[in-house]
Amino acid sequence: MKIKNICCIGAGYVGGPTMAVIAKQCPNIKVTVVDINQARIDAWNSDDFNKLPIFEPGLAEIVKEARGKNLFFSTNIDKTIDEADMIFISVNTPTKTYGKGKGMAADLKYIELCARQIAKASKQNKIVVEKSTLPVRTASAIKSILDNTGNGVQFQILSNPEFLAEGTAVQDLLDPDRILIGGGSSEKDQKAVDALADIYANWVPKDKILTTNVWSSELSKLTANAFLAQRVSSINAMSEICEKTGADVREVSKAIGMDSRIGSKFLNASVGFGGSCFQKDILNLVYIAKSYGLNEVADYWEQVILMNEHQKNRFSDNMVSTLYNTVSGKKITFLGWAFKKDTNDTRESAAIKVADNLLNEQAKISVYDPKVSEERIYTDLDYLNTRSSDENKSLLTINKDPYDACKDSHAITILTEWDEFKSYDWKSIYKNMQKPAFVFDGRGLLNKKELEEIGFVYYNIGTGN
Ligand code: NAD
Ligand code: UGA
Repeated sequence: MKIKNICCIGAGYVGGPTMAVIAKQCPNIKVTVVDINQARIDAWNSDDFNKLPIFEPGLAEIVKEARGKNLFFSTNIDKTIDEADMIFISVNTPTKTYGKGKGMAADLKYIELCARQIAKASKQNKIVVEKSTLPVRTASAIKSILDNTGNGVQFQILSNPEFLAEGTAVQDLLDPDRILIGGGSSEKDQKAVDALADIYANWVPKDKILTTNVWSSELSKLTANAFLAQRVSSINAMSEICEKTGADVREVSKAIGMDSRIGSKFLNASVGFGGSCFQKDILNLVYIAKSYGLNEVADYWEQVILMNEHQKNRFSDNMVSTLYNTVSGKKITFLGWAFKKDTNDTRESAAIKVADNLLNEQAKISVYDPKVSEERIYTDLDYLNTRSSDENKSLLTINKDPYDACKDSHAITILTEWDEFKSYDWKSIYKNMQKPAFVFDGRGLLNKKELEEIGFVYYNIGTGN
């Protein structure tokens, strides 16, 4: 079966870039990305390619090449579903904020709404692909809804989790480590698996396209994120020991990373991991383990999150104690608000927690981030409900110029590893700050020796002073 027409429900960080790359690599397939959010779809259709809703290096060029030819963005969901042979579900699956499993389980209401809409709108057989990250066995719930509420047409359900990381999404999609496709064992299911594998085979080598059963595929996604986050929490735990003992966490990372069994990636100690998925997916895993009565398994993975919370709090506590136990009324500059470089995404960014802790101590914060909007920063803070929106606005200001953001401040903290921070004129920044001038580098980004020569008091994660 050759797929000619794809619909993707959800035009977010996964749906947008993934479908743009499929459209670019498969000029004979029509790809339409739909969303209920009109503003988001309008932004994807914007004439100004700087205004696309998601910033990812290389993405605007791909959208420019394919949009209007075989890539479309629309809010006409029913019509797009009906016309498609294959439908990707790429909607958000956040942590539940209510009811049973509150604060832990994945909220599947958007997934269920998609399934019901697909069932209602489909007048011909369809392949439905889970692209969103889902609890293991969600495919059976989707199948039950489709089969019981549809128009008598047949649905094949596949799991095809996405492993892209933000900031490198386009590169990850063009040259993935692997493509994972989970499907059932019946002949029809296997045909559906082949149809999806054929799409990827347009640019991904066949030996990198892995097929498994549906449950292995769903669970592999949660497992991959849990292992990645665990590495960050593990090295962050070591960073605290380094600070007490005079060891340097960068030297420790290098030394262990050269062991080919351990590997060198994902061993950068930091102020804590952020992003929309690590925490959400581990909490989801913990919930699944608990629901099967596997309490030791649940406790084991929960520790990864607890360590991450500790790392963020420890970072802001250290700032306060170093700044003579008070930051009340002091200007503190945040360089970076995004959860990592090269993205405008701020979900679960460590900067939010560090800011909240310092605002509780009555600090005056000034933020500069090259890609994050002013509105986003205030929304992130207001969402915590720690203080009123007006208070957040009066205590935290946002600067468009990094040098203005640093002027007259007592301390600068690096919360995102944006490359541009390395090439700033740190001498001139030093001159315009209060003395002693402190830098708290939450990303190990800057050169300790150079900064100390200028006169800064420099604190780095995982380096004893
Ligand atoms: P997102 O919030 O950026 O985008 C989801 C979109 O779905 C939103 O625009 C929302 O309006 C839309 N939507 C929700 N319900 C809808 C409905 N019923 N009909 C039409 N549109 C609807 O989310 P995201 O970051 O793209 O994540 C999507 C999924 O992919 C999640 O399960 C996430 O865990 C997973 N994932 C994310 C990443 C990442 O880097 N962000 C990577 C891999 C996997
Ligand atoms: C992560 C995974 O890397 C992707 O494979 C996965 O698809 C995605 O989650 C998802 O499911 O959403 P992402 O969150 O975009 O991708 O970015 P990462 O590069 O994994 O970084 C996550 C956080 O960990 C960032 O805050 C980053 O700064 C931090 N990190 C990462 C460290 O502190 N140290 C490291 O060594 C690596």
